[in-house]
Amino acid sequence: MAHSQQREALAQDMDRLQKQLRGLCEGRLSPADEKRLRVLDLACGECHEAEMLQKVMRQMAAGEGREHELSVDFIGTDIRDREIERAAERCGKGEDGVDYRFMVKDGQKLTQDADLAEGFDVVFVRHQNYYLGGKEWHAIFERSLEKLAPEGKLIITSYFDHEHDLAKDAIQKVGGELIDEIANQEARSLATKGKFVDKRLAMFRRRD
Ligand SMILES: C[S@@+](CC[C@H](N)C(=O)[O-])C[C@H]1O[C@@H](n2cnc3c(N)ncnc32)[C@H](O)[C@@H]1O
Repeated sequence: MAHSQQREALAQDMDRLQKQLRGLCEGRLSPADEKRLRVLDLACGECHEAEMLQKVMRQMAAGEGREHELSVDFIGTDIRDREIERAAERCGKGEDGVDYRFMVKDGQKLTQDADLAEGFDVVFVRHQNYYLGGKEWHAIFERSLEKLAPEGKLIITSYFDHEHDLAKDAIQKVGGELIDEIANQEARSLATKGKFVDKRLAMFRRRD
């Protein structure tokens, strides 16, 4: 695929993901601090979704047209440093009430991490990779739930139907409660059979 076509495909993926997130989050986000939304994007890779995600989460939490009343702390983490460097270069520090920070972290080991104190309103995991290591992803999901504020939400997306179902089971086993899920009917198909960009989405809360 030529560069321009790839850019166009990525932009369309973002539009579709945005639409799905609106459907999933409408009326369901209530920030712990009414002036500040905290978003953690875990295993974010290059984090192509950062700008779109902070914008949609802000609108959904504040109400459309009132976004400016809420600032956003957006933290993206991944175990791979090159991806984190690229994300940081692309997003910069942020502006207009948005503060971006990108950090190299092993998502399995966040329990004692002072950079990532608990209390996130949203933890987002796009294209979780359960197929590549169920044990590792159990730990990542467990840490994700621990990082939530009491009313916080964990949102995942998946490439494959079956991988999504495995991840859903794992999250429920480590203390998550499924709130809702969406099948993205417009998801773009990829070369591998059954693989689609953001094919399925699900939202969880922590079961206390
Ligand atoms: C399928 S990629 C998805 C990347 C990105 N979220 C996206 O949708 O393009 C899965 C990501 O999980 C990250 N990952 C795998 N194990 C991890 C771990 N233990 N801690 C943090 N990130 C991890 C990988 O580096 C990779 O970026």
